[in-house]
Amino acid sequence: MRTEQPTTIHLTDYKQPDYLIDETHLTFELFEDHALVHSRLAMRVNADGEGALPPLVLHGQELMLQSVKLDDQSLAADAYQVDENSLTLQPVAREFELAITTRIEPQNNTALEGLYKSGGMFCTQCEAEGFRKITYYLDRPDVMSRFTTTVMAKRDAYPVLLSNGNLITSGEHEGGRHWATWEDPFPKPAYLFALVAGDLYRIDDSFTTMSGREVELRIYVEPENREQCGHAMDSLKRSMRWDEDVYGREYDLDIFMIVAVNDFNMGAMENKGLNIFNSSCVLAHPDTATDAAFQRVEAVVAHEYFHNWSGNRVTCRDWFQLSLKEGFTVFRDAEFNADMNSRTVKRIEDVTFLRANQFAEDAGPMAHPVRPDSFIEISNFYTLTIYEKGAEVVRMLHTLLGAERFRKGTDLYFDRHDGQAVTCDDFIAALEDANGVDFTQFKRWYSQAGTPVLQIDSRYDAATSTFQLLCRQSCPATPGQPEKQPFVIPMRMALLDGEGREMPLQLAGEDQGRGTETVLAVTEAEQLFVFENVTEEPLPSLLREFSAPVKLVYPYSRDDRVFLAMHDPDGFNRWEAAQSLAVDVLQGLIQIHQAGRPLLLDQRLLEVHRAVLEDTALDAAMVAEILRLPSEAYLIELAEVADVDAIHHVREWVRRELATGLTEVMWTRFRQLGDDGSSYSADAESMARRSLRNTLLGYLMLTESSESLSACVQQFVEAGNMTDRQAALVALVNSPHEQQKQAALDEFAQRWSDYPLVMDQWFGIQASSPLPGGLERVQALMSHAAFNIRNPNKVRAVIGAFANQNLANFHRADGEGYRFVADQIIELNRLNPQIASRMLTPLTRWRKFDASRQALMKAELTRILACEDLSADVYEVVSKSLA
Ligand code: PHE
Ligand code: ZN
Repeated sequence: MRTEQPTTIHLTDYKQPDYLIDETHLTFELFEDHALVHSRLAMRVNADGEGALPPLVLHGQELMLQSVKLDDQSLAADAYQVDENSLTLQPVAREFELAITTRIEPQNNTALEGLYKSGGMFCTQCEAEGFRKITYYLDRPDVMSRFTTTVMAKRDAYPVLLSNGNLITSGEHEGGRHWATWEDPFPKPAYLFALVAGDLYRIDDSFTTMSGREVELRIYVEPENREQCGHAMDSLKRSMRWDEDVYGREYDLDIFMIVAVNDFNMGAMENKGLNIFNSSCVLAHPDTATDAAFQRVEAVVAHEYFHNWSGNRVTCRDWFQLSLKEGFTVFRDAEFNADMNSRTVKRIEDVTFLRANQFAEDAGPMAHPVRPDSFIEISNFYTLTIYEKGAEVVRMLHTLLGAERFRKGTDLYFDRHDGQAVTCDDFIAALEDANGVDFTQFKRWYSQAGTPVLQIDSRYDAATSTFQLLCRQSCPATPGQPEKQPFVIPMRMALLDGEGREMPLQLAGEDQGRGTETVLAVTEAEQLFVFENVTEEPLPSLLREFSAPVKLVYPYSRDDRVFLAMHDPDGFNRWEAAQSLAVDVLQGLIQIHQAGRPLLLDQRLLEVHRAVLEDTALDAAMVAEILRLPSEAYLIELAEVADVDAIHHVREWVRRELATGLTEVMWTRFRQLGDDGSSYSADAESMARRSLRNTLLGYLMLTESSESLSACVQQFVEAGNMTDRQAALVALVNSPHEQQKQAALDEFAQRWSDYPLVMDQWFGIQASSPLPGGLERVQALMSHAAFNIRNPNKVRAVIGAFANQNLANFHRADGEGYRFVADQIIELNRLNPQIASRMLTPLTRWRKFDASRQALMKAELTRILACEDLSADVYEVVSKSLA
């Protein structure tokens, strides 16, 4: 057990920095067994007048301090104090230069924060508080400084030396060493600093900005990956154009660089002019990457690029404001993706993800508002709430204002705050001021945690031709927030007549009609909307596009849902109706299964799926989305007490029933869709076709016919791309055909053993297979030669996939799944606290399960909490989840 409790940091304690750093000059001397970091900081006190100078407290962790000079005078050891987290000294002038040398050991840095080695290269990760592991500094985002950086290293091993901004000079040293100096003209917080030194291949391209400036684009990768960068480069150019077109934002440096590294805790990082990426978010080639990977590359490249304005030019005042840049930027990348591909499908994917994962976070022990009030370790707050719910909050603002007024607001925001470190309130104020609106109540979305429930009931009165919607909102208690005030909930809706046509909307008390679709603002705990001139009893189509991140409750019958699934003119709500029908059917069957009674499928679900399959006019990706049943994770989230075994059993049973009942139409559609042969394209239509075809393959394999097995084996062998090959492998791995399964796995591993990202897929497919014996399989994978617990991608592919996607095995009744994951967390706590903490999430959800599983999960959390040397990251999550 740790003796000292880590401290909690509160938003209300925010204070301006005592000192500012106008200029930061860094020199890195990189060696195999250590690095020396020399900094020269031009500093001044952050106050006017003559008052006494406060002590200067610089952040620093795990540093060996070599020397400190104040205005060129070496300081004696008694002129400053050093502890585990800081260096304190007393300035004597209002302006001064501080020069510090620290020694660090990048080769031993397994936490992948600060300066570390990934494979043969040096790289950095400074967000959120990693810069303090490089040198003593004011490591807080409201201290913005102009950086000049010199990197020195051996030329043969590290021919490429990079940092932020523009290359100023470079040269040779004796002994085979060389150096390069980079200068970034834009003041930035330390978290956006980056450095790379390695033997890297460079892919070049260029982009002409809206004002006609030529920008050099470069992607750096390990030489063997040079053929896999085309999609990232293409995505980058499209992102740059889109941000000009949609937000009027132009790129500001003459060069933009992306570097791919294999060992990275997250997806990527928006360092100014020098984005560093997890290789999984850069590399994409049809032979080795699936369509999902192509999509992820496009999304992450866009996301990091968009940060150049929403994050870098305008940054966060403090880390409580993290969603200011992340929520906004996720909203921006989602809109980019929607414009590049299918808007409806993108929305379906995002909503599916949000409801299965963020809703669970909002209902769990780590629930926090989009702008948290406190934290122990900021790394724990790179959450689905900050990112995805934060994006939903920005989306609601966009919905309430409309595209044009939203743009007016963001123009004012960028203009007003360029070069500043600001707050979520500043963002809202810009939207308000540009449009003369008041978002005071809306801001509760930033301060109140939890997923609101929007309960709607309706009444039709034929005599007066009125239709009433009674809306009631509530929000469950979350840690530290027992009571909630009403939110502003934008609810997009329409009324459908008996033929499924949208009816004109006339609200009582309004002169003007609202067309056939409108957005109602639900602002009260209870609120009545009355529609007039409603000539027949309508069926409402509610919360279209998922216009607010809430749980909608409306007493639809199954027949209503069938009607909407077949007829709603709104694509998103068609999917939603089919989905909620499936949820309803599954929940009913789960109860029947628990009561030990035989299962019988409601044929209406089957008929909806049949109709959708036969509708060749419908986007194939939409068909695939409708056929995909709600995930086990979502069914767990919806349950009061989740019976994992029943959920898994019933869901698999329904999948099998659908496959049996629809075999013929599935085959017809499967054959019609055809395969891609050797030609591959990553356009939306081709991806949609592959998505549907592979969804069908998964179903057809459940029929266990020899025909489906040979189609699957054939696809595995002959596939011209990784999407199809992987889908066939998944189907085989989850089938009972031991021989074919093993042959395919062996063949795959042999063929792709030199491709770590492909091997991640191989690991992930096996680790998430729900067949019995999953734990033993995962344990075997951990001793495979390609597994390495120090590589976060491997940890995610094996341990993460097992705990998050293999629910039947993770939750096995004897608790061995929990014990295994806890063992890995204890090991990871020493190596990489951020990854350890992420792996904890599934265990923190113990309240969802039966008493016996609760006890087993809590026992593992308690065992972790009792470990010596627990990192702040793990301590915070474990202690909060046991509280
Ligand atoms: N800021 C990064 C992003 O969202 C994420 C990140 C956070 C990466 C912390 C590394 C460390 O784009
Ligand atoms: Zn981001």
